[in-house]
Amino acid sequence: MTSAAPRLASTDLLVLPIFTDDPGDDLAPWNEASGGQLARVRASNEVRGKRFETHWLHIEDGGWTCRRVLLIGAGPWAEFTTGQARRLANAAGLVARRQRIGRLGLVQRGPIERVSCARALAEGLVLASFQTDPYKTGERDQGLLHEATIIAEGAEEGAITTAVERGLVLGEATNLARALSNEPSNLLTPRGFAERAHELLAGSGLAIDVLDESQIHELGMGLLAGVSRGSVEPPCVVVLRYTPANVSSRAVLGLVGKGVTFDTGGISIKPADGMERMKYDMTGGASVLGAMQAVARLRPWVSVVGVIPATENMLGGRAIKPGDVLRSASGKTVEVLNTDAEGRLILADALWYARKLGATHLVDVATLTGACVVALGRTTSGLFGEPESWVELIRQTGERAGDRLWPMPLFDDYTELLESEMADLQNIGGRAGGAITAAVFLKEFTGGLPWAHLDIAGTAWADEAKPYQPKGATGVSVRTLAELAFTSDQW
Ligand code: BES
Ligand code: MN
Ligand code: ZN
Repeated sequence: MTSAAPRLASTDLLVLPIFTDDPGDDLAPWNEASGGQLARVRASNEVRGKRFETHWLHIEDGGWTCRRVLLIGAGPWAEFTTGQARRLANAAGLVARRQRIGRLGLVQRGPIERVSCARALAEGLVLASFQTDPYKTGERDQGLLHEATIIAEGAEEGAITTAVERGLVLGEATNLARALSNEPSNLLTPRGFAERAHELLAGSGLAIDVLDESQIHELGMGLLAGVSRGSVEPPCVVVLRYTPANVSSRAVLGLVGKGVTFDTGGISIKPADGMERMKYDMTGGASVLGAMQAVARLRPWVSVVGVIPATENMLGGRAIKPGDVLRSASGKTVEVLNTDAEGRLILADALWYARKLGATHLVDVATLTGACVVALGRTTSGLFGEPESWVELIRQTGERAGDRLWPMPLFDDYTELLESEMADLQNIGGRAGGAITAAVFLKEFTGGLPWAHLDIAGTAWADEAKPYQPKGATGVSVRTLAELAFTSDQW
């Protein structure tokens, strides 16, 4: 993918965004190249610019090699953001693939700043190239994008190229996480996850360590060990470390991702209906892996450690049972009243381990609670943490990266709900405020460091295809985590 000065691209498809209230003053050259067709369809009101609405032009008599033009709706001019740009590029790329078009040129238009827009367009085009059917043996039903050109006018080419390259890295990291989340649990076990980490990050410059079951026991990670007991698959902890060449700050960002490769609920078993989706309960871990790949390629000036506790949550003769008491690595004891509240258990030990590795600032990401889906729906992730400045920085970073996050409270009133009769804490706090009590549980293991928790239970998976998003893993939070590593001047 390259950027280019304005020119009439020699490509198989030219994509032109059209706005509902399009000023149209930059469209003259494109109209000319289309042999006047563009002006004709715009005048006929056939093309209204409604978001993601498409209209094809077939050029017979244009003075130019490209025979097909896709007009794609971009909505109101003033409401066009980088988020809209990313979605538009993604939608255009998916339309092109459906038509088996492997080469396209996308014209950058709209009111937003050129450089960040180019980056968002690049991200969208890479997201559109994601393969959703890796296990189909016959003909795959979608083509592939081989080459895309972003056609940007009036901006400095060097800055655009850098932005596009950054977009490529962030898009690819997002796709990596999506691919892992989509994997079925028989093919992506905890050890399989660790193997993938080795394969995907070999040569990246990251240090990769995997703690095995015996090391988990030696470290006293009784919560992770407890959750894994019901499974024949042993747990592991994938540890990824990035150290910059010139450390400009003593801060160490600790990224912790829930890696439950399948969540049956354990003895507190889940209903059968929809249980297949619990293969994506390792999405937080996949996000951390993707973000670490981007970090390794983009090289921020701050150290970053990624900690991914990986396990299945299964039933079996050795499985933990409701009422069991487990001892965490931090020393706190937990009464497990519901074995389906397993994410917070493994994250508690992983947060402790990230601190042990020297993390000074923590972020965890997890498909943690159904309650968060009820609270915020399927497009906004829950954001929890303290202090407020750290939480707000993450919210803003997410907004830029294209991940919508919304702050939720952590008042002490909620902490009381986790008081256990016989241990330091119990692992559930009742139905009311379920996303918050889960977060409050995690807070007990952050050692008072700046910490944020992203609950992505609602946003990690798309149940329905959208013009800009196929069914399945969304790759939420990858770009936010990666971008966060570049904000250390604000920590
Ligand atoms: N992995 C689930 C949460 C989840 C729900 C993720 C829906 C994605 C979609 C988590 O481990 C879980 O089971 N949480 C329980 C907690 C409850 C037992 C307190 C839940 O939300 O029901
Ligand atoms: Mn669960
Ligand atoms: Zn779970």
